[in-house]
Amino acid sequence: MSKIPVAQTGDIPPGTMKAVRAGSEKMVVYHLDDGFYATQHLCTHTLGPLARGKIVEGGQVQCPLHRARFDIRTGDVVEWANFPPGVQLINLVRREKALTTYPVSVEDETVYVDL
Ligand code: FES
Repeated sequence: MSKIPVAQTGDIPPGTMKAVRAGSEKMVVYHLDDGFYATQHLCTHTLGPLARGKIVEGGQVQCPLHRARFDIRTGDVVEWANFPPGVQLINLVRREKALTTYPVSVEDETVYVDL
């Protein structure tokens, strides 16, 4: 594993998220009330860009495309895609799948992700 600097803490105020690059990987870093977390960048449903979604319920990310929700801390699916009506047809072939998460650490105001 290597520890890669991806942002400064001031770049990601509490309650926000930011798309970052760690080497060749694109991911999203989130600043929650208990610290920083990172997940893969693209939704596991049909590749929606999670950084354009929103943080809800203090620790979930909602995808901007079909509103799937994931637990940011674990990557687990909280609610699968449910918008717009008819998305259930896509869900027949796109089954629930958790996000990949990455360990995050902070030192001297720099946010690092372990890859
Ligand atoms: S791409 Fe994210 S919910 Fe469909």
